Amino acid sequence: MLLGVNVDHVATVREARKTFEPDPVMAATLAILGGADGITIHLREDRRHAKDRDLRLLREVVHCELNLEMAATKEMIRIALDVKPDMVTLVPEKRQELTTEGGLDMVGQKKVLKETIKKLQDSGISVSLFINPNIMDVDISKEIGADMVEIHTGLYANAKGKKQGKELHRVIEAVKVANKLGLFANAGHGLNYFNVKSIAAIEGIRGLYIGHSIISRAILVGIERAVREMKGLIRGY
Ligand code: PXP
Repeated sequence: MLLGVNVDHVATVREARKTFEPDPVMAATLAILGGADGITIHLREDRRHAKDRDLRLLREVVHCELNLEMAATKEMIRIALDVKPDMVTLVPEKRQELTTEGGLDMVGQKKVLKETIKKLQDSGISVSLFINPNIMDVDISKEIGADMVEIHTGLYANAKGKKQGKELHRVIEAVKVANKLGLFANAGHGLNYFNVKSIAAIEGIRGLYIGHSIISRAILVGIERAVREMKGLIRGY
């Protein structure tokens, strides 16, 4: 199972002072030394953390999977076609949110997403859709031509007790259906060193995309060690 490390949170600290440090590009290279299989960056419309410069430099130094998270907008499509990350994960984006709060609106956005997927794939970029763990959303992902889905694990991560079991079941079912339809299934959001095990144990998941928890641990133990420890937990399954 692959581990993609999201380095936006390093950029968030940098932007707290609008300075040059810490540099998400340096963090990415160290995360790779720690065993990351890929690096993710979310270039937001308002550039509140990651900047265009980060994406460009990451493309230069990341020789494993570079995953650009972005909204399906004209500006972002232009940037993706220019920089050519290995994959794009299309996400919904709201200005006021603290982080990506839910999966894509697959019914309302179907047409835009389909056109965006085609444009990106035509230039050799694989496309993943960040979706809620609903069977219908997996079906639509297949219908509109995505290569992969990333199942939103936020509700699982935030739930407790029985409710968490229910949310886990929804993720498992969504992964199953995705695999059956021939889609690669990834998972991410809210995963940490305590709740990752049940998700890592799901058969048929291609990769996990994790940011906040790894970067939080990195502040205390260093990023190479934080990544290595997460890889160890994932590899256990
Ligand atoms: N996957 C997607 C699509 C995301 O938007 C995010 C948050 O940037 C993540 C994974 C990582 O989430 P977290 O920071 O909670 O690990």
